[in-house]
Amino acid sequence: MKVDSRTVRQARLTYVDRGTPMGEYQRRFWHPIAATIEFEKWPVKKVRLLGEDLALFWTENGTLGLVGDRCPHRGASLSCGMTDGDGIRCAYHGWLYEGAGTCVDTPTEPVTSRLKSRIKIAGYPVDVMGGLVWAYLGPQPAPLLPRFEHLIADGWNRSTGFTSIPCNWLQIAENTLDPLHVEQLHMKYTNWVRARSGEAPVKVRHHARVDYELFDYGILKKRLWEGDSEDSDEWQVGHPLIFPGTLLFPYNADYVQYQFRVPVDNENTIVYWYHAKRPPTGEEPTTTVPVWDNPFKSPDGEFLFGNVNAQDMMVWITQGPITDHSLEHLGESDRGVALYRKTLLEQVARVERGEDPLGVIRDPAENTPYVRMPIERHVGYDLSAANMRKFAFSESRLRSRPL
Ligand code: FES
Ligand SMILES: [Fe+2]
Repeated sequence: MKVDSRTVRQARLTYVDRGTPMGEYQRRFWHPIAATIEFEKWPVKKVRLLGEDLALFWTENGTLGLVGDRCPHRGASLSCGMTDGDGIRCAYHGWLYEGAGTCVDTPTEPVTSRLKSRIKIAGYPVDVMGGLVWAYLGPQPAPLLPRFEHLIADGWNRSTGFTSIPCNWLQIAENTLDPLHVEQLHMKYTNWVRARSGEAPVKVRHHARVDYELFDYGILKKRLWEGDSEDSDEWQVGHPLIFPGTLLFPYNADYVQYQFRVPVDNENTIVYWYHAKRPPTGEEPTTTVPVWDNPFKSPDGEFLFGNVNAQDMMVWITQGPITDHSLEHLGESDRGVALYRKTLLEQVARVERGEDPLGVIRDPAENTPYVRMPIERHVGYDLSAANMRKFAFSESRLRSRPL
């Protein structure tokens, strides 16, 4: 069968399994895979990341480990196992594995058995930062886990939303390089929805100009609203897409959101909606990082049409599990998306040549006290009416998510 260049490009941009070009590129970065608060309820979690099924465990000794989920004895799932010492013990016949994937005990075998010395499963580095557990599935030596400012700096209240989204990671991440959709989806469409329930409209603004700029960790998106001066922060500074696919943006100087888009497999992505917010004056910052649901559908199965985050999820999901990018009709307004895809493919090629891609950090000085990202102090549009409904809903549900 003839494989045309569009098919190759589509695969290089979207597939994340081990051995694929994008899969190998994504494995050069650390990804969040859990919130630490989840382990207060249960010390083992099943994780799927970059097409690999894994068992994440946190033992009573304080050892954190991430290993292949399938027990090589007869295939039971280690994420149904029990913690023991520094490892995870399979529930079925008790084989015990440590974080590097070595099998250290096979209790149902004769004591003279050497079987365990031949058993090895995948074992990956894990670390904790900002109330999240992070994993690295790439080659050694692992790069540094980027110390994102708002995850570790003093003086912030932190929480994280969490959504499993049934589509490919790229159609989520590239949304960040698509500023024009704010005007259409989050303003005009919002008002169409709000009119149907008699709610007051949000203010509609127009983009006078947009621009994109490569920087050390990704691409900066800048917008100039009609009526704003060229001195505006949004035009002078903007906010970043941090490679491979993380958005950082400010509601205002005291409230920022990261969206960590984590590829689960080719057709599924988990988004961590990580919020850092200054505590009210006179209050001490909170010390835990709670988890909240950020749904895209109502209990009766409809998309939450009037909710800003759910609107984004609606347009990501309805493109299909993996949209065929070769069937699109890109225009001038897609310049940022085109730049992102082109730059991603360049980074994929760098990895194929054995080089580090853009944004990988190995120098501790660059990561100390934290890696600083350019970010405007606030965005110049007010979606607070739509957002307030979201936060009223979400924050009333603040809780640790049961496993
Ligand atoms: S299947 Fe895991 S110990 Fe038997
Ligand atoms: Fe959006």
